[in-house]
Amino acid sequence: MKPSILIVDDEKSVRDNLAKYLSVDYTAYTAANGREALEKLKDNSDIEVILSDMKMPEMDGIELLERVSADNHDIVVILITGFSTIESAVDAMRRGAYDYLTKPIDLNKLEITIKNAIENKKLRSENIMLKQRIREKIDATTLVGESRPIKEILDLVERVSSTKATVLIQGESGTGKELVANILHYNSLVSDGPFIKVNCSALAEGVLESELFGHEKGAFTGALFMKKGRFELANGGTLLLDEIGDLPHSIQIKLLRFLQESEFERVGGTRTIKVDVRIVSATNKDLEQLVKEEKFRDDLFYRLKVVTVEVPPLRERTEDIPLIVEYHLKKFSEIHNKRIKGISRDVMKLIKAYGWPGNIRELMNCIESAVVMSRGDIIEVESLPPFLTMGQKDQAAGKSPSNLFDIEKKAILDALNKSRGNKAEAARGLGIGLRTLYRKLNQYGVN
Ligand SMILES: Nc1ncnc2c1ncn2[C@@H]1O[C@H](COP(=O)(O)OP(=O)(O)OP(=O)(O)O)[C@@H](O)[C@H]1O
Ligand SMILES: [Mg+2]
Repeated sequence: MKPSILIVDDEKSVRDNLAKYLSVDYTAYTAANGREALEKLKDNSDIEVILSDMKMPEMDGIELLERVSADNHDIVVILITGFSTIESAVDAMRRGAYDYLTKPIDLNKLEITIKNAIENKKLRSENIMLKQRIREKIDATTLVGESRPIKEILDLVERVSSTKATVLIQGESGTGKELVANILHYNSLVSDGPFIKVNCSALAEGVLESELFGHEKGAFTGALFMKKGRFELANGGTLLLDEIGDLPHSIQIKLLRFLQESEFERVGGTRTIKVDVRIVSATNKDLEQLVKEEKFRDDLFYRLKVVTVEVPPLRERTEDIPLIVEYHLKKFSEIHNKRIKGISRDVMKLIKAYGWPGNIRELMNCIESAVVMSRGDIIEVESLPPFLTMGQKDQAAGKSPSNLFDIEKKAILDALNKSRGNKAEAARGLGIGLRTLYRKLNQYGVN
């Protein structure tokens, strides 16, 4: 496919000739001024390069450049300038134009400039993508913190790294269970093998069973082909069974057998399949309680928790907060192109005083929004989401300082207000699970 280019010039003959010339190698669009160019951009998302004259009625080249970069378009702009506007063209390069060409246009030079611009753009986005991938990997395996529980977790991971022990990770929503599972896998004997994750609460019983164990051709209506399940796909690696507390009874039995004998049959099949998979499971539910209520098999429970990792809620390791804040502050300033150096003392005080019912995920969301909202290079109280500053206003107004419970309750009720009662939306905004929200509402006696 040819790359697309938008030619903007108020002189019809100029833009038509350029379009004709460039249409050999490019898909060429034309516009008579900046305003028209913006319209064309809206309708044609394939445009990669804008070649624009400087002086035009309605909207000139500089304003077009500014509009395009303000909208964060990933488009390169090349300006065409007469002698009278060379100075402003140079200035435009400082504002993000890729290059400028002087009139009369040297067609050879034009072609080279466009080619370079497209190459440059490609490199830039590859570079960004590579950086992003490296970051994701680092992010997925960095457990920030120096508190005792964190040290104990890392120590435990280290100790089981040379074994294939089945590990159960327990902890409230957003505490870092999946993160611990990642670290377990990447520090294990099977770190080169596949790492497969299944969320046991996301699928209906029948679908989940065939998702996990696969199915034979014709196992049920619609099973036109044999399909391998996640257990087979994870062969030689790790399978993370997330939200294991929601595993239906029928599947609990099959999982138990797998843990005892490393074998199973696909749905609708009789052939026994053997695989070598390390099982890690995670839950924010109290499995022991579920066992008592006979919602979870005790024999399976004991099989799963050969090694147990308890990830404590953030409020029980507040000493980690400064490090976690620093880590995510740096990350989000990079992502959002901000130069944030730190947070003010008052902000740290508020962050430490809050209960963080959504744990690290909630804290992380809060830091991200503060980074985005912040005007200066230090995050001040004004950039914080309202639920954090509410307690402070109460104090200023002479009310008794709210305790954590009240602050949390108010945050949740406010979020519900904001979402007009939509619980899923409120939970998302707070960075907590829907179930946590229900549990909290129960605690407050609110329906
Ligand atoms: N100690 C930590 N340091 C830095 N980031 C962390 C830490 N713990 C968790 N995070 C980040 O917080 C987010 C939530 O973590 P994770 O998804 O592992 O939580 P979870 O316990 O699985 O939550 P849920 O029960 O809601 O699934 C992730 O983006 C993770 O990278
Ligand atoms: Mg999780």
